[in-house]
Amino acid sequence: MPNFKTLDDLPGDLTGKVALVRVDLNLPMKDGSATDVTRVEAIKPTVLELTGKGAKVLLLAHYGRPGGQRSSTLSTSFVQGDVEKVLGKELMFVPEIAGPIVDQAVGILRSGDIGLLDNTRFWPGEEENDPNLAQAIARHGDLYVNDAFSAAHRAHASTEGIAHFLPAYAGRAMEVELRALDTALGNPEAPVAAVVGGAKVSSKLAVLEHLVGKVQHLIIGGGMANTFLAARGVDVGKSLAEHDLTDTVTRIMDEADHAGCTVHLPYDVVVATEFAANPASLRTRNVHEVGEDEMILDIGPQATEALADVLKTCRTLVWNGPLGAFETEPFDRATVSLARTAAALTQEGSLTSVAGGGDTVAALAQAGVTEDFSYISAAGGAFLEWMEGKDLPGVAALENTDG
Ligand code: 3PG
Repeated sequence: MPNFKTLDDLPGDLTGKVALVRVDLNLPMKDGSATDVTRVEAIKPTVLELTGKGAKVLLLAHYGRPGGQRSSTLSTSFVQGDVEKVLGKELMFVPEIAGPIVDQAVGILRSGDIGLLDNTRFWPGEEENDPNLAQAIARHGDLYVNDAFSAAHRAHASTEGIAHFLPAYAGRAMEVELRALDTALGNPEAPVAAVVGGAKVSSKLAVLEHLVGKVQHLIIGGGMANTFLAARGVDVGKSLAEHDLTDTVTRIMDEADHAGCTVHLPYDVVVATEFAANPASLRTRNVHEVGEDEMILDIGPQATEALADVLKTCRTLVWNGPLGAFETEPFDRATVSLARTAAALTQEGSLTSVAGGGDTVAALAQAGVTEDFSYISAAGGAFLEWMEGKDLPGVAALENTDG
């Protein structure tokens, strides 16, 4: 478990102090408002705890990828209304991240008020992790809190550099996330199962390579399963598959074998000749009977049941990626069914279940189990890099704070 300071290490009274708080306000937007405010709900306890202790809070956040220059469409002011609604407090928008305008804003803010600084990525020094920029931002605060696990895979001035200039603390959401991830892969109770799904093996090679040495059961789903099946000589018809990865997949399966990790591939699958909702050509087949004009779009019911039996023997589950083309009915069935099994086992107390990644969160929401997993991470890239076993710079900086 990483060793970092939390808000518990702060004094009870922060009146007169300025807290620079890195949050993730990279919200999905439609028609000017956020379609999902999970990330704002996540930071609420931290922000309100700091304002409750009398600190002036300055929120630091990126929004989109403006590439080091101002963009009229990517100001953090666009999410201000959504953040205010969730926090139940008004924010003062500050169109800079350092300098005299921020000084002025700090002068105007009263104890317990919140300022929202503009998009950190408008400044090239942010993504370059320029220490001059980090120091210029740090000058406005007395302490730094990082509550943005989902941006912690970036070594940027506001996620990493700044922690070298101020006393640095993990926010409440960061703390909960790191503890949950530690129970899932850092220090898990065995046997551990991992579900890794999604379209392409190539995008999750590092994840698979890391997991075979960590877990006892590796459950492969989605288009990735087709690539594994094809590498084993199964004719997958016109399924999505990366046939050029045969050697890589064979090597991963050999490594799994050596490490005592069972790789679970489906032996029955749901196929159709076209990818559409409830197509007339829908069939369930043994993997060895897929027609040359058919594509595999989900794991079959027998395989799903067998996977449920595997989960019943496990104590820990980490899940990233759907098992089938879950956005289109009925190819969500295996994902929904296995997610419900995992949720039920979690509720019974026999399984610790941690999931993450954009598609995964949507798939688990579709299964109606969002509340029933032990922990679901809203992080995308950061969750994947964590599954790859990488050190995340934003987390590492909290451990090495010399500010
Ligand atoms: C995210 O939305 O996953 C985070 O905010 C990180 O965004 P990025 O991939 O642009 O760094």
